[in-house]
Amino acid sequence: MKFLSLVIIATLGLATMASGQQEPNQKPIFGKPEKKRPNILFIFTDDQDYRMDSLSYMPNVQKYLVEQGTTYTNHYATVSVCCPSRVSLLRGQYAHNTNITHVMEPYGGYDRFNRLKLGESYLPIWLQEAGYSTNYIGKLMNGVAVHNWQNAPKGWNYQDQLLDPYTYVYNTPVFSKDGEPPVFYENAYQTDIIHGKAKAALKRLNNTEEPFFLWVSPMAPHGQFQIHSENPVNITTEPPISAKRHEKFFEDVKVPRTPNFNPDVQGKTASYFNDMPKLTDEQVDFLDHTYRRRLRALQAVDEMVGTLFEQLEEQGQLDNTYVFYSADNGYHLGHHRALAGKTTNMEEDINVPLIIRGPGIPKGAVSDLVSTHESLAPTFLALAKGEDKLPSWVDGGVMPITPALQNHPLQASTETFSVEFWSDNIAWENDENLFVPGVNTYKTLRVIGPTYDYSYAVWCTGEHELFNLKSDPYQTQNIYNQATDRFINRLDALLLVLKSCKAGSCRNPWKVLHDNAEVQSLPEALSKDQDDFYATLPKVKYDHCTGYYDYENEAPHFGDVAEANTTVQHATVINNPSKQPERVIPPQDIVDLFNLLPVPESTGHTMVDDDFESLAKPVPEQLMQTVVDWSRYGFYSYGS
Ligand SMILES: *[C@@H]1O[C@H](CO)[C@@H](O)[C@H](O)[C@H]1NC(C)=O
Ligand SMILES: *[C@@H]1O[C@H](CO)[C@@H](O)[C@H](O)[C@H]1NC(C)=O
Ligand SMILES: *[C@@H]1O[C@H](CO)[C@@H](O)[C@H](O)[C@H]1NC(C)=O
Ligand SMILES: *[C@@H]1O[C@H](CO)[C@@H](O)[C@H](O)[C@H]1NC(C)=O
Repeated sequence: MKFLSLVIIATLGLATMASGQQEPNQKPIFGKPEKKRPNILFIFTDDQDYRMDSLSYMPNVQKYLVEQGTTYTNHYATVSVCCPSRVSLLRGQYAHNTNITHVMEPYGGYDRFNRLKLGESYLPIWLQEAGYSTNYIGKLMNGVAVHNWQNAPKGWNYQDQLLDPYTYVYNTPVFSKDGEPPVFYENAYQTDIIHGKAKAALKRLNNTEEPFFLWVSPMAPHGQFQIHSENPVNITTEPPISAKRHEKFFEDVKVPRTPNFNPDVQGKTASYFNDMPKLTDEQVDFLDHTYRRRLRALQAVDEMVGTLFEQLEEQGQLDNTYVFYSADNGYHLGHHRALAGKTTNMEEDINVPLIIRGPGIPKGAVSDLVSTHESLAPTFLALAKGEDKLPSWVDGGVMPITPALQNHPLQASTETFSVEFWSDNIAWENDENLFVPGVNTYKTLRVIGPTYDYSYAVWCTGEHELFNLKSDPYQTQNIYNQATDRFINRLDALLLVLKSCKAGSCRNPWKVLHDNAEVQSLPEALSKDQDDFYATLPKVKYDHCTGYYDYENEAPHFGDVAEANTTVQHATVINNPSKQPERVIPPQDIVDLFNLLPVPESTGHTMVDDDFESLAKPVPEQLMQTVVDWSRYGFYSYGS
């Protein structure tokens, strides 16, 4: 049962968008009351792909969003893993500026987010300052847990946070509301509880004076993490668990067999991709099984999408609400021979769903506007007419999605961005060997225009990749060795600026390279007059491979160019061997602690009814009082 696939019907030129459509909150006409500023509903899934067609299996997403709004085909996560990506979105900053580069300590997680004081100035606080009621339901980031719930994130008028270590256990939903002691919902399916909470929140918000921002963030279709207490005790990841009512859906569906799916010839050859054998039939069958489990887990999300639209309509708020649908990062299943996971720079992992519906957004349209997660917060603020609340250090910009947001002074780059990652291993989910040795530290430039589309990567190993996505959309052929130096010089210069950009230099890297504004796009930079200039710039490089962001290791940076010019061209690269993290088997008391809450195999025969809050039971004291670093046992520390 496959629903209509997305078809790119048109390139949405900015000029065609600048029609005279009415937008809410026009300047007040004298004598008439000012219309209320728009509400924003943000539905945000975890690990949902754009490239494997998952959206076409979601009938309500099709009906209410795709058909009534615009699908953006070039929206990207600039760091392809949950916690870093979410923090980049919340702060409007690249990971090289948040330095949240991993899901767990010491380079990521909620406790580090607080230590670095990143939650003192971020999206919900800016929206509150702009006069919005801010509301959050679901998974915020890794490390919001049963032991630190007292330390609730700031800036939310109402919040209902999913808590680790149960965040990734579909049938053990555990939440803390507004910093209150955690509760769990017995025999309930996590997405259904989020569904119930989101509907209830919309009802409450119908009566608020101020406009609202409601972010709803189910964990689906992320994989499940579990402790198996049999002998030997171990922790496993497995494909997502659907609600019982969806477990037989899509029995014949398989991962789309695109040219980069388990190819005979490996066209992606940097670092660990070099040594990956072709997947066996058994592995491919399991990937197809995983794909079906992901689509099934998305069905409960889709039901929620339907309810939220019906509720907005019933409340008479649909016409004054922007609805955004996106995911923290993408996902791959067998692409370039890689087993299930994310964190790589392949398009499957970084290109994410983005659909927007609301006043001034073309209906049923497909747009190739280039954008990244860093630009969502500035865009929300601009829709809320609160862009003056954005700090000057924000890297993202305003996306020109409505007529009123064209040529905004804080315009996002619609041509270039970079993707970054730091890790000394790579994780394939649902596999016995969770961590594969292989350094996963790279910087990738994406540069996209009407007639060009390139992905250029520099790995810490000194390897390079260049894919021409216009002629090779599935990245099957690395053409770095065939490219001319003068072409590579331009790409490398852009990456040199973007790899350590801040604020304005992220929004317009050309201005850093050409202060006089004579060059503002890749074709202009390719002018012969510029050859000498680009030839003198130092090359992007790493001194050695590290699993975290070390500024010196990645020198020179653009600011140091004059100095670098005299010394560096291609510096010697010293490859550090990659590290395979040791898996610590949890001792019995930790297993017992985890098992204090039941982990039913399946729940969700039907959707929960309106009095679902009566299912809530307090979480045992012992769980709250014992501070456990679950990541030590490999728990939710990879991939998520
Ligand atoms: C871990 O537990 C799973 C489920 O019981 C089992 O299939 C797997 O073989 C176990 N792995 C190890 C290394 O013990
Ligand atoms: C929502 O609020 C509007 C305006 O205050 C009111 O007319 C409407 O009846 C309310 N709807 C619901 C379902 O509460
Ligand atoms: C990022 O954080 C790590 C760990 O705290 C630290 O060692 C590193 O220097 C930081 N990087 C930058 C560029 O500040
Ligand atoms: C690099 O050095 C050359 C020769 O010394 C000089 O002409 C050029 O301006 C320098 N480039 C930069 C970007 O400083």
